[in-house]
Amino acid sequence: MSETAKIELDGKTYEFPVVVGTENEKAIDISKLRDTTGYVTLDTGYKNTGATKSAITFLDGELGILHYRGYPIEQLAEKATFIEVAYLLIYGKLPTQSELNDFSNSITKHTLVHEDMKQFFEAYPAKAHPMGVLSSMVCSLSTFYPESLDPNRSPEAKDLTIHRLLAKLPTLAAWSYKNAMRHPFMYPKNNLDYCSNFMYMMFGMPTEDYTVDPVIVDALNKLLILHADHEQNCSTSTVRIVGSSQANLYATISAGISALWGPLHGGANQAVIEMLEQIHNDGGDVDKWVAKAKDKEDSFRLMGFGHRVYKNFDPRATIIKKACDDVLEKLGINDPMLEIAKKLEKVALEDDYFKARNLYPNVDFYSGIIYKALKIPTEMFTVMFAIGRLPGWIAQWKEMTENNEPIGRPRQIYTGETPRDYVEISKR
Ligand code: CMC
Repeated sequence: MSETAKIELDGKTYEFPVVVGTENEKAIDISKLRDTTGYVTLDTGYKNTGATKSAITFLDGELGILHYRGYPIEQLAEKATFIEVAYLLIYGKLPTQSELNDFSNSITKHTLVHEDMKQFFEAYPAKAHPMGVLSSMVCSLSTFYPESLDPNRSPEAKDLTIHRLLAKLPTLAAWSYKNAMRHPFMYPKNNLDYCSNFMYMMFGMPTEDYTVDPVIVDALNKLLILHADHEQNCSTSTVRIVGSSQANLYATISAGISALWGPLHGGANQAVIEMLEQIHNDGGDVDKWVAKAKDKEDSFRLMGFGHRVYKNFDPRATIIKKACDDVLEKLGINDPMLEIAKKLEKVALEDDYFKARNLYPNVDFYSGIIYKALKIPTEMFTVMFAIGRLPGWIAQWKEMTENNEPIGRPRQIYTGETPRDYVEISKR
């Protein structure tokens, strides 16, 4: 007989099924809890709540394991391209050569954005944060493709929307940067691969030839792969909850981009580099900043440290740290931020405060240093994360719609006033 969990409430015992995942993760299925007992569970921040069953990404925070569709992140980061990984996440299997060609060609075919959208960019102030621009632009795509408004129209229509979005996100991202620089927009080039095309649209100029360094393309592929999915994090949960109302994919991903923006989530990569620069400009006294991070009276936190799920090490951080050394060496860059980051990591890892709380560098601790080496401006770091995370968001949305999951709607415990009579304004 399968395992059950017993809960005793008001002198009565109730039994609930235990669900076991393929990696032996266990959950108590409380979906009938309220109907049978009248109780709900309370779990602010969803620290113990499994919101769905998913076959996309497995991670073990204690052992520092991350798999996409069963493939270890280390192997994918070493051997695959970002587009191959996007296919894997979205369609559940590694593509054959001809499947990959078809997928790549379809994406390449859709990289242009509608000319009318250029006017939207021009209306933003030059100082507009590119994440705000990106989120709005992605939602605006829904107005140009009304056939996407019904997310369940047909599998073909769903695929077309997915390919359009994957194709257009780098164009929109690069154009948000060009707009901030008040430089001319560069149109995508269909003979370039996904990463090269993005770099070309970011840094190419109509006045000169631009060739992308293969070292940069490799580094970008790796970074995007490492960010491609991370199961039910803040932005992915946002995507699933917005998508559960059957909002269209563009609106849904736009919400995911907004959720990613915050410094506790994807915005941490920008916050890390700003923190390292602050420490550098302050004389580089790492101990002083570690002490600040430990001081409960001080709101300063070590950005790029700590993770809700990883409590031993973040496997993505290990790969990125090595990639960071490689890229800087190959590009011949000597960045003092890297030295400060390494010192900070060493001091923090030996400190009891960080050890007791299992705080380790996360994926964002070193990624900013690589982005900086690739000449990506700091405000674009979180945009890079969004480009990387897009296939994961899409895969999670697709899985949710295909499983006909119900609309997301948590409960609450009300702690406000009990009923009272309205008082006329003159008597208050
Ligand atoms: N520096 C100093 N203290 C910290 C830090 C930090 N970066 N992170 C957590 N703590 C302390 C926190 O003060 C608390 O201490 P105490 O138990 O004494 O009250 C304890 O560690 C547990 O922290 P928490 O905030 O309850 O943990 P959480 O799981 O709610 O938060 C986190 C996880 C990532 C939001 C948090 O560690 C943090 O704010 N880190 C810095 C921001 C960051 O790097 N975010 C990127 C995450 S990785 C990219 C992604 O996937 O989004």
